[in-house]
Amino acid sequence: MNKTSFNLRVNGVERAVDAEEGTSLLDVLRNTLGLLGTRFGCGSGECGACHVLLDGVSVPACDTPVGAVQGRAIVTVEGLSANGGPGALQQAFLDEQAGQCGYCLSGILASATALLARVPQPSETQVREALDQHLCRCGAHNRIVRAVLRAAQAGATA
Ligand code: FES
Repeated sequence: MNKTSFNLRVNGVERAVDAEEGTSLLDVLRNTLGLLGTRFGCGSGECGACHVLLDGVSVPACDTPVGAVQGRAIVTVEGLSANGGPGALQQAFLDEQAGQCGYCLSGILASATALLARVPQPSETQVREALDQHLCRCGAHNRIVRAVLRAAQAGATA
């Protein structure tokens, strides 16, 4: 198959990658750019593990072809940290001990970030609705919801 050169803007940095048009963004992030924080779960847009921000909207990277994201702002969990440490939202997750195995968290952080940018003071129902598409097999849902609400109280946008 023929590869094409794509110019991607990932976490504020321009990155040139060679890939087939239909290669998933998740594949490129993990296997070409080495950004391993974004996780592979189901591979079919069902579990939420691979979500990243695309122009501020949380999308499944496994279900997004790299050919569709040129020139758009891609933010992975690595881009959500602050000065190399946890951002305010991540700190709230730490404070609530919302990470159990942690496999689902990078996708959840993407969706929570998108929610807080859209609705700075969400209700519990809005948080639950925003995260509904994310599976957490550890059953940490209540802690995760509390963490997002704590971050909102603290005025976090990321
Ligand atoms: Fe993309 Fe499950 S790995 S939604």
